Amino acid sequence: MSYESEQLRDWYILFHYGTGEEILDGTAFSIDQLPSGCLDFPTATVGAFGEVGMVERALDLGCAVGRSSYELSKIAGEVTGIDYSQAFVDAAAAIGTGEPLPYHIYYEGHLRAEAAAELPAGVSPERVSFERGDAMNLRDDLGSFDLVHAANLLCRLTEPKKFLDRLPDLVRPGGHLVMATPATWMTEYTPQENQPSGLTLDYLDEHLGQTFERQSVQEIPFFIREHQRKCQLSTSQTSLWRRKG
Ligand SMILES: C[S@@+](CC[C@H](N)C(=O)[O-])C[C@H]1O[C@@H](n2cnc3c(N)ncnc32)[C@H](O)[C@@H]1O
Repeated sequence: MSYESEQLRDWYILFHYGTGEEILDGTAFSIDQLPSGCLDFPTATVGAFGEVGMVERALDLGCAVGRSSYELSKIAGEVTGIDYSQAFVDAAAAIGTGEPLPYHIYYEGHLRAEAAAELPAGVSPERVSFERGDAMNLRDDLGSFDLVHAANLLCRLTEPKKFLDRLPDLVRPGGHLVMATPATWMTEYTPQENQPSGLTLDYLDEHLGQTFERQSVQEIPFFIREHQRKCQLSTSQTSLWRRKG
């Protein structure tokens, strides 16, 4: 699936920056029927780092339109957001200018209304930069980070192992990794032979366990609106890891 389309960009802007009222407008759902926190996923996965204090550098891989990158700027002096989609990183950077970013909220498959996304309160856009990149083939001079955040990226990769193999270099000794995945493995993204043969958490233990200590696992819910009658409610298995050494 291409992440370059305007419609997908709009769905993700609403998912990352929309208010509860905007996300649920016209749907048959009310906030009290939904799992607590499911409208705040990009913030909640950053919260999974816990009380780390203020750190120097953070990396958000598969950042999409950037909400988690901006949330990371509350706890890191420098944040790099990387995504494979140019349309997504352009939208992420545009929001950082402070100008409202026009997008659309869909009501039926073909009917949409104008909306504008705003930079969230309390973030520091001057600390955040975005670039297009491939999580399976990141540039060599990216350096190392105190925090690496990868939300709902793993099962979108053709070769997830390539991405996992780079993580020990990216996370500084004593630094932390948040890996969130709904484990929705599909051959349209990941060929069968590159998917885990068993549980995704066992696969992560196998590939990360030598260099990382797994500290916690939680299910974080998320709700993505496509249009008023088509919404996706899922949870993402979110594990926190500490780099050994
Ligand atoms: C399911 S979305 C999740 C986005 C965001 N982290 C979130 O939680 O809302 C997957 C994201 O990964 C990006 N992506 C897919 N393949 C990638 C790759 N090889 N390298 C970097 N980003 C990739 C997509 O463009 C998309 O923004």
